[in-house]
Amino acid sequence: MTRTRWIGLVVLVLLANAIAVRLGWFADPIPKLAGTAVWTTARAAGVTAFAALTLDVVFGLFVSTGVLDRWVPRGASVDVHRWLSSVALTLVGVHVLALLGDASVQFDALDVLIPGLSTYRPGAVALGVFAMYGALVVDLSFGWRKRIGVRAWRALHFTAFAVFVAAVVHGLLAGTDAAHHGLRTLYASAAAVVIGLVVIRIGAVFVRGARLTPSRAR
Ligand code: HEM
Repeated sequence: MTRTRWIGLVVLVLLANAIAVRLGWFADPIPKLAGTAVWTTARAAGVTAFAALTLDVVFGLFVSTGVLDRWVPRGASVDVHRWLSSVALTLVGVHVLALLGDASVQFDALDVLIPGLSTYRPGAVALGVFAMYGALVVDLSFGWRKRIGVRAWRALHFTAFAVFVAAVVHGLLAGTDAAHHGLRTLYASAAAVVIGLVVIRIGAVFVRGARLTPSRAR
């Protein structure tokens, strides 16, 4: 079975399970664990997922701007870019699974799969859910370039910027630690680096007439 089908199957099973629990057919089989360990795991995974996502976007921009080409072969940058995408998604998975098992927020699968359903900070959590789906689509689309064509692939790949913005706002509005000086610094520096590289990328289009995503990049 392909990766896409596996993901579809897992989402379907989670949805069916959550609907059955909500209809009262059986008790929620996901054990809820009280205490700080699960909550801390959920938050730590959220922060590391954000860091991996930022590095992923940064490496994507390294590839398209070519700023690393002098030191690192472009193929290696592309490999790191793809790998970071999977790492970020895996960490988002840990973030969500830990939230599902945490007793303080009492999430079930519907809350984490359907934007707006969570009663805990609904708007901010919805942004996280959108970011998760966006990150999933971008990750899967790495393998779709030949099938869907460069133009459609590029449009899909640009979703990564929306994912990044959604993740920043989600972290700031949903996170317990958003007011923490260290986390604010992380969000601000991540945004500054990404904006700086986007400016370089756009500048290259005007100065050198370079295409937005050079086809030899991937
Ligand atoms: C790309 C996807 C995501 C990223 C990068 C991400 C990242 C983060 C970050 C950085 C925080 C702040 C942690 C803190 O301040 O302690 C956070 C908090 C949170 N996230 Fe996500 N998240 C994502 C997806 C999701 C999804 C799908 C859900 C669905 C339930 C979710 C639910 C939450 C909740 C409830 C919090 C609040 C935890 C707290 O109070 O600290 N996130 N997330």
